[in-house]
Amino acid sequence: MNIPKKIKSICCIGAGYVGGPTMAIIAQKCPHIKVTVVDLNAEKIERWNSDNLDDLPVYEPGLKEVVAEARGRNLFFSTEVEKELEYAEMIFMSVNTPTKTYGKGKGMAADLKYIESSARTIAKVAKTDKIVVEKSTIPIKTAQAVNKILSNTNNGVKFQVLSNPEFLAEGTAIKDLNNPDRVLIGGEQTEDGLRAIEALSDIYREWIPNDRILQTNIWSSELSKLVANAFLAQRISSINAISALCDKTGADVDEVAKAIGMDSRIGPKFLKASVGFGGSCFQKDILNLVYIAKSYGLDEVADYWQNVIKINDYQKNRFADSIITSLNNTLSGKKIAFLGWAFKKDTNDTRESAAIYVADILMEDKADIFVFDPKVTKERMFEDIDYLQTRSPEENRKYLNYGDNPYDAMKGAFAIAVITEWDEFKDYDWQKIYDNMNKPAYIFDGRNILDHKKLKGIGFEVNAIGK
Ligand code: UDX
Ligand code: ADP
Repeated sequence: MNIPKKIKSICCIGAGYVGGPTMAIIAQKCPHIKVTVVDLNAEKIERWNSDNLDDLPVYEPGLKEVVAEARGRNLFFSTEVEKELEYAEMIFMSVNTPTKTYGKGKGMAADLKYIESSARTIAKVAKTDKIVVEKSTIPIKTAQAVNKILSNTNNGVKFQVLSNPEFLAEGTAIKDLNNPDRVLIGGEQTEDGLRAIEALSDIYREWIPNDRILQTNIWSSELSKLVANAFLAQRISSINAISALCDKTGADVDEVAKAIGMDSRIGPKFLKASVGFGGSCFQKDILNLVYIAKSYGLDEVADYWQNVIKINDYQKNRFADSIITSLNNTLSGKKIAFLGWAFKKDTNDTRESAAIYVADILMEDKADIFVFDPKVTKERMFEDIDYLQTRSPEENRKYLNYGDNPYDAMKGAFAIAVITEWDEFKDYDWQKIYDNMNKPAYIFDGRNILDHKKLKGIGFEVNAIGK
């Protein structure tokens, strides 16, 4: 197969949270490579091309500067998927792989329809040999499926499929891409496969030390991504399980986390108790791991990981419950303000955010919810709640409201729920907020980010996680 010594053209399918930032950094670091990001969603592409860099579809600190530098030079965004794929030497697949909502594996398996349709498009239009890189998180053995589609083209074009999972976290994507702990590249252990791995490694070597580039067989690479996310999520569920125990015993979960985190075998990261993890990866990947374990008859393994999700659901319910109980089990007609709707700070992504589920529970109790989030739009918020289909869209709009500024969102509220750990929440004028609330004024700090002593001094009733 024809594999160029130095790659000169890349096409990335999918201009989302993974594809957009990743390609922007590759283009910035490798000015000799032409990088084109394609997406079927015309509005998204238009926004990636927008002169107003504050209107990019993905919000990430530092992203607009990178786009400003590379766009138009060697970074391009286009809707002409087929045309751009024809001659690209390397193709990244960064399409979404949500949990299946129908049929076999419903609610657990990853939905590969976007991966499949991308592979079919590549197979249809390719005019030259290509390296196809799986960037999206995919279940183990996806490469096999992709290979099968690609090898049935009958046009003489040859492909090598690589797995190069993305480990960036949203909110720190640019930092993570600039300075990753490691880059993982899995490929076929054949002569062509190894050459393809080298071609991709060369791209990363432009800015990443060689010893951080890990080359493996393709199945190890695919599985490692799921396992990394499962281990991270497991730590959060472990500390969240302990937070419930802290609530009952008088231990303080932040103190416990600090004490165990200083054990170098355990380490300090991912031990922040919270209202529950969200995001597009953790739940989806664990469900996927559970599904795979089950399909191999490994029921104990499946149950083990399923419990990580169970604790996460428990934590969201526990948080909502504490609000309902504190307000005398009656929320009807009471205004409750939400600080944050995103699944974590510094992103406008809301997929699987705890906010959606907590709001849903409180809305069943007819609470009047007012949400303020620095980066999430009103449209996104309603899409999220409508997606659950608990109520009709009209009813959702009756109970869920969007605040254009935080002070209005909290004015006249009975309680405030801190859902996302945005830094700016710490700097609010809490005395002023208290003065404008119904008394007793409650704060439910789902992230333990506020100064609870100070708030109590003002007169707030403070409920935190695990304290
Ligand atoms: C994750 C992985 O970190 C990343 O490597 C992978 O490629 C994609 O999935 P992401 O979902 O963007 O990244 O965010 P992450 O920082 O991992 O946070 C996930 C969720 O866990 C968030 O809701 C976050 O608020 C929560 N979290 C994280 C906690 O509740 N406590 C913690 O200590 C850490
Ligand atoms: P992620 O967080 O994995 O990046 P996103 O949903 O943010 O997920 O981005 C995935 C993108 O992939 C979406 O913008 C979607 O429109 C795009 N996409 C999905 N299937 C295709 C396809 N066959 N061709 C082009 N783009 C696609």
